[in-house]
Amino acid sequence: MKRAIIIGATSGIGQEVAHLLVQQGWYIGIAGRRENALQNMQQAYPGQIEIQCLDVTKEDAVLHLNELISRLGGMDLFFLSSGVGYQNRNLEPEIELHTARTNVEGFTRMITAAFDYFKKTDGGHIAVISSIAGTKGLGVAPAYSATKRFQNTYIDALAQLSRMQHLNIRFTDIRPGFVATDLLRNGKYPMLMSADKVARHIVRALKRRKRVAVIDRRYRLLVFFWRMIPRWLWERLPIKN
Ligand SMILES: NC(=O)c1ccc[n+]([C@@H]2O[C@H](COP(=O)([O-])OP(=O)(O)OC[C@H]3O[C@@H](n4cnc5c(N)ncnc54)[C@H](OP(=O)(O)O)[C@@H]3O)[C@@H](O)[C@H]2O)c1
Repeated sequence: MKRAIIIGATSGIGQEVAHLLVQQGWYIGIAGRRENALQNMQQAYPGQIEIQCLDVTKEDAVLHLNELISRLGGMDLFFLSSGVGYQNRNLEPEIELHTARTNVEGFTRMITAAFDYFKKTDGGHIAVISSIAGTKGLGVAPAYSATKRFQNTYIDALAQLSRMQHLNIRFTDIRPGFVATDLLRNGKYPMLMSADKVARHIVRALKRRKRVAVIDRRYRLLVFFWRMIPRWLWERLPIKN
């Protein structure tokens, strides 16, 4: 039986991916800060889910991850869906720093731990949900877009490092457009996708071992043209979301 760990499975996209994997016969370990949500998931699928409360911004998160891996009896897929995001037009420092602590410090802590685990074992698959927001800096969400760009570049770097060290580690960087989850609690967003639809795209991309998956087709087109916008023009565009 294949074993996956999902960090950030208490809501949103991570939770939908967790549902799909157990329905497809995976044995999974799920984590997040909200214990009730973890317990509810475990009760819904008796015998198929191990749970672990952890906060990726805390140093003991790696200890908790390793406990979860032991309880699962190993790990084939490490799936990181934990993340926060805010619009912050007033550039409140605490919002920016909280975003960086979760999406950069927490991300790095968990990804390095997973890389280390796969390096010491037969290898495995590391998948992360970053975002299309890393394509260019967004004035309304500076830390969010910058931290997502960090995640894209970090996974590029580890993919190269893994080859240099002849490791059997695969990587998938998942970049969705707008998804209707708690993360987008305020505001109206165009081309909104449902979390279960996005999760189906993700599971398909994982099976196909895609290196980068932009979800969905409309967003692939958008990102293609977005990349071509020159800096002088991008800085003058009043992007609201
Ligand atoms: N929604 C979108 O439009 C969209 C688009 C592109 C990319 N994404 C990315 O998709 C990922 C999942 O977000 P979502 O949209 O599914 O939103 P969500 O429902 O808010 O899910 C976020 C998940 O991250 C976990 N999390 C947050 N801080 C954490 C911490 N310090 N330690 C451990 N877990 C933590 C949350 O669990 P707890 O609160 O229980 O800890 C929750 O399970 C994020 O990385 C987000 O940036 C979202």
